[in-house]
Amino acid sequence: MAIVVPLLVLAAGVFAAAVLVLLIIRNIISSSNKRSQHGNKARRPPSPPKLPILGNLHQVGKYPHRTFPALAKLYGGPDLMLLHFGSRPVLVVSTSKAAREVMKTNDLISADRPDLKTAKKLLYDNKDIANARYGEHWRQARRLCVLHLLSNKKIQSCHALREEEIGLLVNRIRASAQTGQEVNLSALLPCFTNDVICRMALGRKYDGNTVFRDLLAELMELVVTLSVGEFIPQLSWLQRDSPDDFHLDGDGIKAVILDMFIGGTDTTSTLLEWAMSELMKHPRVMKKLQEEVRREVGGTMILTNAWGIGRDPADWGVSPDEFQPERFLQAKVDFKGQDFQLIPFGAGRRCCPGISFGLAVVEVALANLVRDFDWKLPGGMRGEDLDMSECVGLTARRDLPLLTIPTIVSARRPT
Ligand code: HEM
Repeated sequence: MAIVVPLLVLAAGVFAAAVLVLLIIRNIISSSNKRSQHGNKARRPPSPPKLPILGNLHQVGKYPHRTFPALAKLYGGPDLMLLHFGSRPVLVVSTSKAAREVMKTNDLISADRPDLKTAKKLLYDNKDIANARYGEHWRQARRLCVLHLLSNKKIQSCHALREEEIGLLVNRIRASAQTGQEVNLSALLPCFTNDVICRMALGRKYDGNTVFRDLLAELMELVVTLSVGEFIPQLSWLQRDSPDDFHLDGDGIKAVILDMFIGGTDTTSTLLEWAMSELMKHPRVMKKLQEEVRREVGGTMILTNAWGIGRDPADWGVSPDEFQPERFLQAKVDFKGQDFQLIPFGAGRRCCPGISFGLAVVEVALANLVRDFDWKLPGGMRGEDLDMSECVGLTARRDLPLLTIPTIVSARRPT
């Protein structure tokens, strides 16, 4: 992938300015137990006053990632703040210093996940990876996935598949551009990432405008049998015994496959969506990138507020909210979990195993989009007027769809 190099600059910038998965949720059991056993109240982080039954839920609001820094300023310490969601204590981590302490120094303690009833129901008693308690099942299921699905070898072997899907995406946009039609990137991008993950994980995709929910229903039917490898050979990796005799049962297979969709589709398309939004809002950066690409072508629950940390003036100086990808050229910040001031993929033992896979999709897709098209907003809207509000969910997607008017500038095939 010759195109990747210049985009690394952009990728880092995009992650910081637009970032996605905001609240990394973990469980911390032993440390809080120890603390209460020793009655060490002096070390309890500051906490806003709470209501009976509700705790602090009434203060969390619609956008917790935005409310937490404000609450921390009012009631908490800058690093840590203790809230209560109902009766459940929730430790909010607000700075890179505290995130390092929790996710690196105390990684073993914080690697667990909260036992939430809804997730348990949806994910087969948490037999997946992302919601599994820290232990043997999580270790083995993650190892299996990393080895067979998300390894560099697998990523390389999926090269043609990615190229094909990116080609289809570009062609769809090209067809609209030819007739001057508006393109709703917020609708197109999730279909694209869905198709990529589907082909990667299941070996085929489901053509037509399949709504994600329908696809998942079909997926459930497909993987319902224990002999899944007999019907979908591409899934046989899930049933292969490991040297130490670990193998996933039927529910485990469904849960891990679901994880690939939950962890891999929305995150990747949301990242692309915000990247395009920021670029359209900042034509100077868009132009610079286009020039570059075109020239190149080739226990207690813990909530780490990755969104707030990525915008903390203590780490990022003045105007941390501004989209300035160039700042990463000087800062040389690692975004894969080593430097805690920027943790879009989390950090420590539970950090995202799909980083390379996600980046391989995002970088090449974005490079093709900005290389092959010039982009305008409909109705003569100026970039600076583009609404950048987010909504809440697993990923913080755009609240309003990203509607665009592309113009074709190149007829080259994706690279
Ligand atoms: C490119 C966009 C992506 C972003 C921004 C992202 C972000 C994250 C984050 C923040 C976490 C939680 C880390 C923590 O707790 O410290 C995570 C976990 C996870 N991600 Fe990703 N991810 C992306 C792509 C993917 C892809 C493509 C896959 C798989 C196909 C994937 C699969 C997973 C899984 C299975 C976990 C749970 C890991 C565990 O609990 O051990 N992600 N991701």
